[in-house]
Amino acid sequence: MVATADPDGQTLSTSTEFKGSQWFGFIELFCNAPCTNRTQGSRVEFIVSELDGKAQFDDVYFENSPHSYLRAMSQVGYYLPDQTLPYYENIIENLIPQRDSIRILDVGSSYGVNAALLKHSFSMQTLYNLFLTDRSSMNSEDLQEFFEKRIARPELTFYGLDISEPAVRWATTVGLCSEGFACDIESHLTQELRESLPEIDLVVSTGCIGYLGAKGIFNLFSEIAKNKRRPRPPFAFSALRMVDLAAIEEALSLCQYRLTRVNKQPFLQRNFADSTEKESLLQNLHSKGVTTSQFEETGGLYANFYVASSF
Ligand SMILES: C[S@@+](CC[C@H](N)C(=O)[O-])C[C@H]1O[C@@H](n2cnc3c(N)ncnc32)[C@H](O)[C@@H]1O
Repeated sequence: MVATADPDGQTLSTSTEFKGSQWFGFIELFCNAPCTNRTQGSRVEFIVSELDGKAQFDDVYFENSPHSYLRAMSQVGYYLPDQTLPYYENIIENLIPQRDSIRILDVGSSYGVNAALLKHSFSMQTLYNLFLTDRSSMNSEDLQEFFEKRIARPELTFYGLDISEPAVRWATTVGLCSEGFACDIESHLTQELRESLPEIDLVVSTGCIGYLGAKGIFNLFSEIAKNKRRPRPPFAFSALRMVDLAAIEEALSLCQYRLTRVNKQPFLQRNFADSTEKESLLQNLHSKGVTTSQFEETGGLYANFYVASSF
């Protein structure tokens, strides 16, 4: 692994051809790098070398309500959370016999989409309908009442974690998340997160890995490891096929986690935004040796689903 920092130590990029002990130097470099926040005002410069060529939706992640985010996502046919739902449900079913209630930390929670699907039985289409058509003018009190009445799984408690403070705030205000942490875990964990993170039973992440890399995963799971409770929470997430998971796998392994790909066939994350995105993403995938004829060339971005379990 080669980790590089730009002159002021802010932009870290990694390549993946390192092994074993080199990691410790890498982790040390990352952890000792100045905790410079990559946020500029309320926005963020995402480090997206993994996602080169992907259309950027940064602006819509940082608004005070989810309307623009959902509009942009509906335009590109983003139904990924519907696809990952049964995988999460399966893991939750396996956790239920051991626990009465399940605390879920959603990394890259945005406006609480996973909570809306898993706890309140929404689908992406019902969310799109809710916010882009009939009830799009409901205020946060109305929404709180609306979501409250539609709790399908009261045993689930969601904790949101996202780099976007407005999205986290919205998700907690309307009650989709019980608590939220606005934090760029790729940079460092805030004191608030370190002090207030409750014991977690399951960590999930949909559509965020790639924006979030090995350093963020290492930061989070080494913090979770400080909690003496065993077993440690499983980490279930989706990742686009273009994301090289070698560094993330190594980071997880340093935190005593083993990574397994769960799905057989890749599933559609969303359609291409336009022909330019299609062209550059195909180029990105081909440069990584990924064959695209069965999947991306048919018209969209494809993802896989992974579970990391502690050993
Ligand atoms: C594609 S969106 C997915 C949102 C949501 N999970 C969903 O499926 O609708 C990616 C999310 O990752 C968040 N994100 C990106 N980098 C992050 C980081 N370093 N730490 C925490 N969240 C991050 C973004 O703000 C955004 O909300």
